[in-house]
Order: sequence, then structure tokens, then C-alpha cells
Amino acid sequence: MSGRMNILYEKKPCYDIVFSTSFEDLLEELKQLLITDRKIGIVTDSHVKSLYGDEVMGLLEGNCRKNVLFSFDAGEENKTLDTVKSIYTFLIKEKFDRKDLLIALGGGVVGDITGYVAATYLRGIDFVQIPTTLLAQADSSIGGKTGVDFDGYKNMVGAFYMPKLVFMNVGTLKTLEDRQFYSGFAEVMKHGLIKDSSFYEWLIENMYEICDRELETLLEMIQRSCMIKKLVVEKDPTEKGDRALLNFGHTIGHAIEKYKNFMLTHGECVALGCVAAAYISWKHEWLSMEEYYEIRDMFVPFYLPITIDDIDCEEILRLTKSDKKVEGESIKFILLKKVGKAVIDRNVTDEEILNALSEIHYMEENE
Ligand code: GLY
Repeated sequence: MSGRMNILYEKKPCYDIVFSTSFEDLLEELKQLLITDRKIGIVTDSHVKSLYGDEVMGLLEGNCRKNVLFSFDAGEENKTLDTVKSIYTFLIKEKFDRKDLLIALGGGVVGDITGYVAATYLRGIDFVQIPTTLLAQADSSIGGKTGVDFDGYKNMVGAFYMPKLVFMNVGTLKTLEDRQFYSGFAEVMKHGLIKDSSFYEWLIENMYEICDRELETLLEMIQRSCMIKKLVVEKDPTEKGDRALLNFGHTIGHAIEKYKNFMLTHGECVALGCVAAAYISWKHEWLSMEEYYEIRDMFVPFYLPITIDDIDCEEILRLTKSDKKVEGESIKFILLKKVGKAVIDRNVTDEEILNALSEIHYMEENE
């Protein structure tokens, strides 16, 4: 089972996304990048290395000039310039030059870091994304955003840099731990909510198959989700306008992520942010009450939170304003004009944000 989609960059064909249920076709795809005379550096993390490191290294063996693997400790806390530096050191030691190739094998952290190294090492070398988590397949591996966290700010340092190929083996989603799988699902749900109500409905109709991780359903889900992201990033590759719609749920989501010291997953925070943004959309009378409650409750079967305890709403409001998506004083808030149609709204007030935070703030009866 497989499929393919080409991403245009500045209206020209730029890279293919290949959808598959195994790594069977990976070598043939890499051969299109003329790898025989190139060194290939796989960058991965300790967790993914133990799962797929040998398999991907084995595929490359004898098919390129040299294949080497660098792995760093898994975890968002390692998405730093220090990790970038250790990869530069490794590449220099292995004498990588500009015609060689990097492969990001892993989730969002691996993809973002490897992409940033590729963008900057020797002023840019080619790289391939092999995303192995739902978050990376549905979102972060597409569209050329690369970078690292800095000083407590997520993705504060980075570059737009396009891969040469994205190879998605949805079979890797089978080995993902439940919490990570559902975390990635928040981004899939987001795509339906902001751009495609029929996809949103399809997700609800197929919730059992998705939760059971049926490969055919996952393949269709990822392809439909990527098609939505493709259309958005092709129109606005460097986020001058509508690409910001992809940040639906992220303004409040990022603030909660930071407030909770990254103890919740990204997707859990995005789900809470989506509920809060849908609540504000209802209060703007853009969504009906029924639509708001349906959106909220549809995160539940996917084990995503719709309420959170122990938060200081004023502090989260403050963190919302320190998000890098704030331009000047006004927050670029993403709301839903209707299900399947998001808009940028710069006039959301502090009071509306605080009301939305109270809505998702779970308190014991006697608190
Ligand atoms: N994850 C949002 C974007 O790629 O723009």
C-alpha cells in the first residue's frame, strides 16, 4: 500500500511525500536522489535508533559511499543548540561535505533539529525526512520549518529549509506509545477543524479504526491530513499570512505547555488550546453551542484532555502574550468562523481569553 504527493515551493515542484506501510520502497526512493557517491548521515534519537536504526542502516549498506548514524537522547529537552553543535562536530569528524546527505529518522524533535543542521552545515546540505511519529507525519515533517527551542521558548531559533524527500511509513505508528499517538492526533483533528469539515466528520466516523491503528485507515488519515497541510504551506510557505491558521489551538496550547513545564505532551496542550479557541468562536456566535460541545467532546475518545486542573489563568494569559506569534501588542488568535474554516483574529480580548481558560479549568466542586 502506498501513495505519493508532490509539494510545490514558490509554485515549483520541490519534494515528494511518499506514503507507505513499510520501509520496503525507501531504498528505491533514496536512489532517486543519486546516493551512490554520497555519504549519508542518519540522525535519530536513542528511542527510534533502537526501533528502526538497524533496519534503515541495513537498507543503505553498500548503496551509498558511506552510511553513519548519530543518535542523541530522546526528549524535547534536547531540542537545543547544544545538540545541534554535537551533530556539527560529528559531521566534521566524518568529513561530510556539501554534496552529502542527512536523514532525519524520528519524531518532531529529530526532524526539526536535523533540518536545522542541514540548513546551516556548510550553508546547507540536502536532507530527507523519515518521520516515525504521528505528530511528525501529520505536521512537522511537511513545510520546511526547522529549528530548536531557546531559553524556554519553543522553536525560537530556526530556518525555513525544504527536505528533498519525505518518506512516511505509517507502520511505524504501530510502535508508538499510546500517549504519543494521541498527542499527534490533536494535529490531525486540527487540520479537519481549520480547513475541511468532511475530514473532521470522517475522523469521527472512523474513530474506532483510528484508535485500533488499522493500517489502511491510518494511511488514508495521514494522506488526507497531509493534503490539507500541503495546500496551506504551498500558498504561504514562510507564514506571512494564512499559514498561521495551522496555529489553531497553539497560542493557548503553547502557554499551557510552558506553564506545565512540558509535563503534558504537545498534542494534549493543543487539544486544550483548540477547546479554548472553539469556545471563543462560540462566544463570537460563529459556532453554535452544539458545534462547540461536539468539538470539545470529540477529543475525549482520542484520550486527549478537554479540561486541566491546577492552572493560574492570569499567568497563562501572560504566557500567551509572550508567545512568539504575538506581533506588537496584538495576539494573532486563530478562531473558527465555522467547522472547516479558520480565520485570524487580532481582536480577541484578555477577558475572552480568561473566560476560555476558566471554561477549560477543571476545579473540584468544593474548591
Ligand atoms: N506546524 C505549523 C506549521 O508548520 O506551520
